[in-house]
Amino acid sequence: MVIEEGSLTTAPVPLRKPRARHGLNSAGPHDRPAFAFGWKRSGSVPLSINANYWIMKLLIIGATGATGRETVSQALTQGHAVTALVRDCTKATFVPPVKKAVGDVLDVSSLEKALTGQEAVICSLGSAVSGPIKEMTLFSEGTRNLVAAMKSQGVSRLICITGIGAGNSKGHGPWYYNWLIQPLVLRGVYKDKTRQEEIVRGSGLVWTLVRPTILTNGGAKGVGAVQVFTQLAEIHVSKICRADVAAFCLRELADGRFQGQAPVITY
Ligand SMILES: NC(=O)c1ccc[n+]([C@@H]2O[C@H](COP(=O)([O-])OP(=O)(O)OC[C@H]3O[C@@H](n4cnc5c(N)ncnc54)[C@H](OP(=O)(O)O)[C@@H]3O)[C@@H](O)[C@H]2O)c1
Repeated sequence: MVIEEGSLTTAPVPLRKPRARHGLNSAGPHDRPAFAFGWKRSGSVPLSINANYWIMKLLIIGATGATGRETVSQALTQGHAVTALVRDCTKATFVPPVKKAVGDVLDVSSLEKALTGQEAVICSLGSAVSGPIKEMTLFSEGTRNLVAAMKSQGVSRLICITGIGAGNSKGHGPWYYNWLIQPLVLRGVYKDKTRQEEIVRGSGLVWTLVRPTILTNGGAKGVGAVQVFTQLAEIHVSKICRADVAAFCLRELADGRFQGQAPVITY
């Protein structure tokens, strides 16, 4: 059974300021509120539906992309202080209170500048498809720079979107994805996303890798409908709407339930 957002059994916790434990020296996961859990099918991890919403100073990378724009918009609604990393200020349509920081993940000094005073990062960096031959380094180079810049600026919390097919999730998609799309269309992307995941895992930051299945633009169902798989053998693959990927990342920012893990998320 899935417990819907509207049927919370405990009252939502009001917005409040984060504590110092988001700093680099913080030890472990946040104190947790009482959770209500819901399962949709056996094998998926119960997703907390009653989170503790911290107001955070949040840098969103890939903010101009489809998932990034959703993340900016929902983060703003939740009361976070949002800075969007943008490569081209004239193309980015964000208006105050969203702050724009001009930068590129391949330019570490621009990242350091954008990270000044931030408390957390959601990374939704994306690229064009790579084809079967072309090698890519955007994800690994960009993430290496991001980790270095976060450390130099004392920002510890990173939620990084990769995708099913990265790292040990390779081969766990549907057959057409495993045998056609990934090798023929996304080979370079996922080779580099695997390196990206390794960099995040070895970063020493407080990280969560988020691996969505195939993304869609419409049909948001709400974070309560998201199935979360941390056991690869149990994965069931469907599609997931970008808005719900954004919602999941923000929920993870709030409750840290999957810190140090790489959940696959789908409907
Ligand atoms: N498509 C799928 O079915 C699928 C499935 C699973 C996972 N994913 C992953 O989910 C994530 C979000 O996907 P999406 O389709 O929403 O993304 P997207 O629309 O392709 O957006 C990509 C973002 O990355 C930014 N970017 C690219 N190069 C950059 C650089 N050098 N420095 C700074 N920013 C840079 C782009 O900025 P500009 O606007 O300046 O170009 C854009 O904001 C991606 O990691 C994607 O691989 C996708």
